Amino acid sequence: MNIKKICCIGAGYVGGPTMAVIAKQCPHIQVTVVDINENRIAAWNDENLDNLPVFEPGLDEIVKEARGRNLFFSTEVDKAIDEAEMIFISVNTPTKTYGKGKGMAADLKYIELCARQIARVSKQSKIIVEKSTLPVRTASAIKSILDNTGNDVAFQILSNPEFLAEGTAVEDLLSPDRVLIGGDTTPEGEEAIQALADIYANWVPKERILKTNVWSSELSKLTANAFLAQRVSSINAMSEICEKTGADINEVSKAIGMDSRIGSKFLKASVGFGGSCFQKDILNLVYIAKSYGLNEVADYWEQVILMNDHQKQRFSDNIVSTLYNTVSGKKIAFLGWAFKKDTNDTRESAAIKVADNLLNEQAEIAVFDPKVVEERIYADLEYLATRSNEDNRKLLKVIKNPYEVCKNAHAIAVLTEWDEFKTYDWNKIYESMQKPAFIFDGRGVLNKTELENIGFVYYKIGTGK
Ligand code: UDX
Ligand code: ADP
Repeated sequence: MNIKKICCIGAGYVGGPTMAVIAKQCPHIQVTVVDINENRIAAWNDENLDNLPVFEPGLDEIVKEARGRNLFFSTEVDKAIDEAEMIFISVNTPTKTYGKGKGMAADLKYIELCARQIARVSKQSKIIVEKSTLPVRTASAIKSILDNTGNDVAFQILSNPEFLAEGTAVEDLLSPDRVLIGGDTTPEGEEAIQALADIYANWVPKERILKTNVWSSELSKLTANAFLAQRVSSINAMSEICEKTGADINEVSKAIGMDSRIGSKFLKASVGFGGSCFQKDILNLVYIAKSYGLNEVADYWEQVILMNDHQKQRFSDNIVSTLYNTVSGKKIAFLGWAFKKDTNDTRESAAIKVADNLLNEQAEIAVFDPKVVEERIYADLEYLATRSNEDNRKLLKVIKNPYEVCKNAHAIAVLTEWDEFKTYDWNKIYESMQKPAFIFDGRGVLNKTELENIGFVYYKIGTGK
């Protein structure tokens, strides 16, 4: 089977970069990315590449090369579905906010809508590829909808989980550690798996393309994210012990990371992990375990989330207690709002919870983030619904200049590890602040000696005073 036309439903953080890279690497395949969100599609089509809806290093160059050649962004969903031989589903699957499984299970309503739409529109057989993170056995639900509501055309469902990390999406897509493709073990299923494998084989070495059954593929994605998040929670648990004992978490990380059985990645202590996947996928895993009555398994993984919540809470508690037990009316400067550097994504960012806690203590917050826009920050707080939108806007200001943000502040909180923070004129910042001038470095990125020499009282996650 030789695929010539691909459609991707969902032009978000996953669909956009993934399709851009496929289009770049496969000029012989026409790739159309569709979305119901007209503004998002308009932004993907914007002449000015600074306005792309997703910020990823290197993405603008790829879009520039492929857009209009074999990469298209459109709101004509039906047309793109009809024309394509292979359809990727990359719509969002947030945690349910209502009903059964509220706060835990993945909300599959967008996936189901897509499946129904594909069934209605398709006149020829197609391969459907799940790209969104999904609970195990979603593929069989999609298949049931397609088979029961379609026009009697044949569908093959593949699971092809995304392992890209935001901020390094282009790099991860161009040279992935592995590509995982799950499908039916029937001859038709194997043919579909091969068709997708052939696309990746245009740039990924064959030995890195793994073929499994659908459920192994779906569960592998949840497992990978659970393991990665667990490493972060584990190191964050140790960071609290370090602060009490005088050990330094960075030294501990280095020492254990050199054990080849452990490895050095994902051992950076932080104010807590964020992002659209870790929490959602673990909650999903917990929900699946509970639904099979596996309560010990569920409790085991849930602890990773509880540890992460604790890390965010104790970071803000520490700011309050250090500032003489009150931050009421005091200006706290936030450097960073994104959940990690090199992305404009803020989903589940630790900064949101830390800000919410400090606002409850009546602090005045000023935020600077190099890539996150003001409205996104207010929307993140509004979503928590802790206080009125008006109060959020009164107490928290977003300023596009880091020096302005820090001016007259009692304390600075570093919430994202943006590289540029390291090169600021810290003398100038110190002069402009209230004294004693505190820095709470939730990412451990700044230079302790330099800052202490200037006069700052510097607190770094995972190191004692
Ligand atoms: C993650 C997975 O890495 C990726 O494979 C999957 O496809 C989607 O979920 P992402 O959420 O984009 O990717 O970013 P990631 O680099 O995994 O970071 C997640 C969070 O953990 C961030 O908030 C990051 O700051 C934090 N983190 C990561 C740490 O606090 N310490 C670390 O050592 C590593
Ligand atoms: P992810 O990080 O998984 O890519 P995003 O929220 O960034 O998640 O992107 C998902 C995109 O899917 C959104 O732009 C949303 O508008 C789009 N979407 C959701 N449902 C549909 C649908 N039925 N048809 C087309 N696009 C959809």
